[in-house]
Amino acid sequence: MQSRLLPLLLLAATAFTPATLSAQANSAPHLEKRGQATQLVVDGQPFLMLAGELNNSSSSSLSFMQPIWPRLAADHLNTVITPLTWELIEPTEGNYDFALVDGLLAQARANHEKIVFLWLASWKNGKSSYPPLWVKQDTKRFPRVERADGTKVDILSPASDALRDADARAYAALMAHIRTADTPQHTVLMMQVENEVGVLGDTRDHSAAANKAFNSPVPSELTAYLKAHKSDLEHELLTLWVSHGEKTSGTWPEIFGESPRTDEIFMAWNYARFIHVVTAKGKAAYDIPMYVNTWLGGGESQPGNYPSGGPQPRVIDIWKAAGSALDIYSPDLYDAAFASWCQRYHRPDNPLFMPETNGGANGAANVYYAVGEHAAIGFSPFAIDWPYQPGNPPDVWSEPAAASKSRVPPPQLATSYGVLAQITPQILDAQTRGQVHGFLLDKNHPSQDFTLGNYIAHVSLDEIFGFHGEGNGFGLILSTGPNEFLGAGQGFRVSFSPITPGKGQVGVATVDEGSFDNGKWIPGRRLNGDENDQGLFWRFDWLSEHIEKATVYQFQ
Ligand code: DGJ
Repeated sequence: MQSRLLPLLLLAATAFTPATLSAQANSAPHLEKRGQATQLVVDGQPFLMLAGELNNSSSSSLSFMQPIWPRLAADHLNTVITPLTWELIEPTEGNYDFALVDGLLAQARANHEKIVFLWLASWKNGKSSYPPLWVKQDTKRFPRVERADGTKVDILSPASDALRDADARAYAALMAHIRTADTPQHTVLMMQVENEVGVLGDTRDHSAAANKAFNSPVPSELTAYLKAHKSDLEHELLTLWVSHGEKTSGTWPEIFGESPRTDEIFMAWNYARFIHVVTAKGKAAYDIPMYVNTWLGGGESQPGNYPSGGPQPRVIDIWKAAGSALDIYSPDLYDAAFASWCQRYHRPDNPLFMPETNGGANGAANVYYAVGEHAAIGFSPFAIDWPYQPGNPPDVWSEPAAASKSRVPPPQLATSYGVLAQITPQILDAQTRGQVHGFLLDKNHPSQDFTLGNYIAHVSLDEIFGFHGEGNGFGLILSTGPNEFLGAGQGFRVSFSPITPGKGQVGVATVDEGSFDNGKWIPGRRLNGDENDQGLFWRFDWLSEHIEKATVYQFQ
């Protein structure tokens, strides 16, 4: 017995030595399953990216960026999603220029910002405008996608090993440089590989090489994956496969049928194979989380109207079957159906990260939902530097003038980030315990129930004496103890009932508004009377975003 315990004791004794702890703190940024959530861990601590993505060309010039960094920091961003382009990094073949990378790292650090770099290389928005000229001009070595009618389009073909190897070489050189330039600082948290890939203008590549592959047997790695994952395949993919006889060998049309959906699956496999190789080469040089993003094709839209082959929810399994180098499949979520896309991308094997989305009032509300309800590791409105460019109107994403007749100013992303930054430690802790919920409320969806600890929390649009606020409600609530809660947001109220029926009623004991200053709670007003509807509700009025603590009690 003793001899069996000894190795365990030794393990326990060595598990927390200072050397091990500092090794963990020094390890590169990585994803870690922590309790019920997968989180980004930076220098040994979980990290929530309150981020924004720059306009495409801003980071090509250090002097252009210089005045922008402090503005972003003042708006409570902790991370900036920053393009890096193949054309500027390898202007002539084999000659790399990393001066811009070093300059951006220095600027970010001077402003206490983290970076997620975008590798804009073979493809951006389906097209191929970012490869260097020596790639663009060489159509023999680097062939283009062909439409069914034989016309060539300005999209590099993913069926090209020469392109894959050239892209991967440059990406690996970049990652080797970042590893050297960014250890031990860890300014760079993650990498996006390419941008919104897929064929536009047709459902698939019809070049001779692509046609040959399309009419050849589907690779056995893919059919084996379908078989092994049948019980948890995405339902559209499963339906397509099963409705064509659930075959485990045959050509693409034989296994999936003749349709635009099959073309999309075929392109997904081709892009995924290519990008997994590029990603793996980059990771071999420096292993930090790497992801791809998606131009979403909603509703009945046909592949080719949106990039065919990108990681739409219906083909994420195809991407996963093609390799394991990529860590995250991300939506660029501009669609109004925000919650349902979050639900499709947040899977047990895929944490939610949103590299592009709307800012403005929508973003200010949506970030609560993504972080609170889907343990998003980061949220990042696009064109974040737009208002700081000379001559631009204040907010590219502003609501149309007619919608702003309200007496209450629309919510601001910077305010939401300021609030969420204060309670980030509590959010990250509650994510691991599965004890946080986020919500978006409006006239069509005015209430929602959640289980939180021993209670059911009934969340609804705020109302007092039958008087409703102007606008929508949004926020998150989390438990901090058996009868204690923390919440943030605007325009909602919460009542509680016991999770076990027959256990009496639940009253709101105390509500305190306040803020956190470097983790220390600074209480404001004690909210009672009308402000908690005479003890019935934990209220967040519709006038502004705020943070509140509440305690509850039970009575018969
Ligand atoms: C999505 C792309 O990924 C971005 O780079 C940018 O082009 C936006 N669309 C523009 O809305």
